[in-house]
Order: sequence, then C-alpha cells, then structure tokens
Amino acid sequence: MGVKVLAFATSPRRHGNSETLLDALLEAMATEDGVMVEKYALDEIEIRPCRGCNACEKLNHCIMEDDDLHWVLEKIIEADIVVMATPVYCMGMCAQAKALVDRMQVLRSRKYILHLPIAPAERQGKRLGVFLSTAGQELDYVFDALIPSVKCFFHLADIKNRDISYLMVNNVDKRGALAEHPTATADAAVLGKQMITEIKARLAGEESDVQEEGITGAGKNQETPRENVNTEPHKEDSV
Ligand SMILES: Cc1cc2nc3c(=O)[nH]c(=O)nc-3n(C[C@H](O)[C@H](O)[C@H](O)COP(=O)(O)O)c2cc1C
Repeated sequence: MGVKVLAFATSPRRHGNSETLLDALLEAMATEDGVMVEKYALDEIEIRPCRGCNACEKLNHCIMEDDDLHWVLEKIIEADIVVMATPVYCMGMCAQAKALVDRMQVLRSRKYILHLPIAPAERQGKRLGVFLSTAGQELDYVFDALIPSVKCFFHLADIKNRDISYLMVNNVDKRGALAEHPTATADAAVLGKQMITEIKARLAGEESDVQEEGITGAGKNQETPRENVNTEPHKEDSV
C-alpha cells in the first residue's frame, strides 16, 4: 500500500535550520517501501494572505484563484502524512507558514458551513501530522505561541490533536546550526520511521505499538528529553 507524504518547508531561508530538520525526516521516510514524498518550499510557490472575504463559505473554494492554494489544498486532503516545518519568527511562525494556515479557512467553510467532508472516507481518522520547528533562542517556552495555530492547521486538514507529532529544536540560530546539533537530525530520522510504521498499520487497519501509546513525538518513549529538543507542546488546548 502506497503512503503519500506531503511536506511544506515554510522558511524564506532555503535550506536553513527548519528545512534541514525536515530533510532528515523526509529522507528517513523515503527509504521505507512504498513511500512517496513530495516537498514544497512556500518560498517558491505563491500562497497569498487570506483577505477575510468569507466567499469560501458560499463558493467552497477561495476567490483568489490565481495563486497556488487550490492545488496545495487538494494535496493536503489526499496526503496520508502532512508535515510542516517552520522557523520561529517573533515568537510565532513565519509569515509564509501563517498565510497557508489562514488560507485553510476554505476547509473550515467546507466542513462547518457547507457540511462537506474533508478527507476521503477511507482515510478519515487515520492521517497523521508532523510539526517541525527551529528557534534561535534557548527559552524553554519559545515554541508555545505557535502551537494553537499548528493545531488549527492540522484540525482543518482533518488531523486530530492526538495524531500530531512535534519535533522542535531551540538554540539553533545561524544557518548550519541545526546540522551541528548533537541529536536533532537523528531524532527527525527516528520520528520519520515511526510515522511510516504507524501510517502503514493504520491504513492496513492494524493497531501498532505507537498508536497504543498515543503518538505525541519521537521522544515520547525517551526517559529524559534530549538537550534542546522538544517533542511535545508545553500546553494542551482544545482546538
Ligand atoms: C525575522 C526573524 C524573527 C525571529 N524571531 C525569533 C524569535 O522570536 N525567537 C527565536 O528563538 N528565534 C527567532 N528567530 C531565529 C530563527 O527562529 C532561527 O534562526 C531558526 O533556526 C531559523 O530557521 P530557518 O533557517 O529554517 O529559517 C528569528 C529569525 C528571523 C529572521
């Protein structure tokens, strides 16, 4: 059974820290049988900010049809695993990532106003989300403000909070700092393989060990968190 992985590198700094973390995850996923990985850099496609017109509540699509959102949304709906990687900008996500999150409003209209399904019926409740982030500061709360928007993004993609995994690395600022981190790329590779094992089990209708424990991150089973690597959001919310 084929597994479709869809990933967004959202940083305007191409091949920087968050994209390096993403690449480590995707390379590990791609070595598994039957996995198709597609990665898009938001810096190379055009997702303009939402205009708040609410036309999608009637149209079931965005009124701005001349950017890349329409095919990006279709790919999000079709994917088995959706991955977003973003740097922390001023305690939030970068503008490119936030524009994509806001434009997911089309799916909110589809689900809650027009009462139409998002994910195909056979994949509902099975799909997984992965959120990766890097930050320059060492503050332990540096990722906290991103989490509600991240949950909103995956919620609108029909991926539940319990099905989102997190890998967030602080204290990596300069270009190349992530690659020098003692554990981050290895942690991303472990997470990537866990996600593929889990989604294959779900698509085959099996329970897996990971599922039984509840996926919240590659470090879930580690007795002590690794230095500068966060695998769980600090706070739960009800998005
Ligand atoms: C405009 C801007 C704002 C930033 N704001 C923060 C911040 O509030 N907190 C922080 O820890 N790092 C901040 N950083 C640093 C980045 O999060 C950090 O360098 C990250 O690893 C960059 O990832 P990238 O190479 O994928 O873009 C900021 C960087 C930029 C360019």
